Amino acid sequence: MTNFEKTFSVAPMMEWTDRHCRFFHRILSRRAVLYTEMITADAVIHGDRERLLGFSPQEHPVVVQLGGAEPERMAEAARICAEWGYDAININVGCPSDRVQRGWFGAVLMKEPETVAACVRAMRKAVDIPVTVKCRIGVDEMDTDADLDRFVDMVADAGVTTFVVHARKAWLQGLSPKENREKPPLNRARVHRLKSRRPDLEIVINGELATIEDCRNELARVDGVMVGRAAYYTPWLLAQVDAGLFGETASVTSPLQAMERFLPYVEAQLEKGVPLHAVVRHTLGIFHGMPGARLYRRHISENAVKDGAGIEVLREALAMVREQLARRSAA
Ligand SMILES: Cc1cc2nc3c(=O)[nH]c(=O)nc-3n(C[C@H](O)[C@H](O)[C@H](O)COP(=O)(O)O)c2cc1C
Repeated sequence: MTNFEKTFSVAPMMEWTDRHCRFFHRILSRRAVLYTEMITADAVIHGDRERLLGFSPQEHPVVVQLGGAEPERMAEAARICAEWGYDAININVGCPSDRVQRGWFGAVLMKEPETVAACVRAMRKAVDIPVTVKCRIGVDEMDTDADLDRFVDMVADAGVTTFVVHARKAWLQGLSPKENREKPPLNRARVHRLKSRRPDLEIVINGELATIEDCRNELARVDGVMVGRAAYYTPWLLAQVDAGLFGETASVTSPLQAMERFLPYVEAQLEKGVPLHAVVRHTLGIFHGMPGARLYRRHISENAVKDGAGIEVLREALAMVREQLARRSAA
């Protein structure tokens, strides 16, 4: 049995986990492994690489997620991503959206483990960094332990040792991507059984983990936890990861301190011409459950989108939170 170091990661999320989001998340946790949004292999090969792949060195460890199903193109994209300095490459075998299915990749590939295996082989020839897979526990009528085992075994034979498994199947017809993250019921037991059957593989579980306690419970059974929506909507959760899961000192002691540390980055981005809202939208949930949270959200939502909005908008919003906190402690 191989003993893997336990990991915590923030899930890849389109439109959400961009470089600004990741920089912010990194302030909150040193231990979290961060993922990019899914990028298609064709976009990596033909697109604006600085815009698609650029990231700050502070973001490490950062994993790029690729979408695609054509071995040579996936290998070429992997090579480019490795050159950009990513720590690992993850293949998306979990996204059910129509757009992705038309390109014939994402969750539909669970039905074609040989294609995924061929991509993995080509990518591993092209790069030295790990090639990993994120998949579902099943898709459509392919929804038994034996189906998942067959998929995992074939892809593992091609050299993948890390599988991130979203513990719910995907319905490729009739459900939107959003519904596919909510409707089919979770089946974490299937992921646990996978780990018991293949202790030689690093198994990371994903799906509706919302608290440090949830993560701790899962880490007792599998090697890693991946958190998506909870990390985005309530990012203060991330500030509890280093101490709560790894017994290390926390990176930051309060949401206000985290925001103070984010300010220089926001200013630098503004100087580069990045709109304020594009950077600070990822912080909307940071004060969740605290005095001033609603004022903060409102001030940012209403003002950061305005033309020419500058750092003062963020400073004003933070001042509102400070004032609410002061009032609360005076009361
Ligand atoms: C807005 C959004 C975008 C997502 N984009 C991706 C993506 O690009 N690649 C991917 O593998 N999964 C994507 N997902 C799925 C998440 O990575 C994750 O598997 C799912 O949200 C379940 O985890 P959670 O319950 O902790 O959110 C996305 C989810 C959301 C909410």
